[in-house]
Amino acid sequence: MLEVLDLTKTYGPPDQATPVLRGVSFKVEAGAFCAVVGPSGSGKSTLMNIIGLLDRPTSGVLRLDGLDVAFGDRGREARFRGATIGFVFQSFNLLPRLNAWENVALPLVYAGVSAREREQSALAMLERVGLSHRAQARPAELSGGQRQRVALARALIRQPRLILADEPTGSLDSVTAGEVMALLRDLNQRLGVTVLMVTHDRDLAARCERRIEVLDGRVVAEAGAAA
Ligand SMILES: Nc1ncnc2c1ncn2[C@@H]1O[C@H](COP(=O)(O)OP(=O)(O)OP(=O)(O)O)[C@@H](O)[C@H]1O
Ligand SMILES: [Mg+2]
Repeated sequence: MLEVLDLTKTYGPPDQATPVLRGVSFKVEAGAFCAVVGPSGSGKSTLMNIIGLLDRPTSGVLRLDGLDVAFGDRGREARFRGATIGFVFQSFNLLPRLNAWENVALPLVYAGVSAREREQSALAMLERVGLSHRAQARPAELSGGQRQRVALARALIRQPRLILADEPTGSLDSVTAGEVMALLRDLNQRLGVTVLMVTHDRDLAARCERRIEVLDGRVVAEAGAAA
């Protein structure tokens, strides 16, 4: 599903270049539930942003579904991202003026889906995450866990093959975090969507069948079946 080969990322001007990723390689099989762990500043978000085509590597290869990603063509990157990848962030990133179903439906606006179909799909997706009864509520009227459920539904609405989650439970209490994780797990199993998730929670990471440990811009340990 996903393969990175010797990815590097360097920030700053050439004379004061700061390496953040120093040759990262790993594979994630289709359908896997994979945790990315490592200390603050080790390069986890940088790696996720590159895999999600939100940022470009300095060198290296990113392969999604067997295809090398050709970095550089913004239009193609955006189309590929929209069709293949769903994002979930620590801070939910919901639009405050839109209600729950409108937030979920947003990616379909860019995909050119009709208004009627957007509403139907969004309501169906909210049902999957157990929030049909809050479809009309705005983000400010929802709890943290409910907001993250809305964000999950939005990430899934275009039926991506890969979900990238950067500390999705980082701003939730441990009970709510457990519930959101269970939901993510359930969606991974029922929909077969591959999940790559950054987490600081050792217990959560221990429950993932696959783990990638990043330290100082390198992969220092891997657990679980590799391809
Ligand atoms: N745009 C940027 N310009 C320069 N340096 C950056 C930029 N973005 C990130 N960095 C640096 O790259 C390093 C890795 O950052 P990154 O956000 O990937 O870490 P992280 O592992 O996600 O950390 P955290 O667990 O705190 O989220 C840090 O030292 C950070 O300061
Ligand atoms: Mg980060």
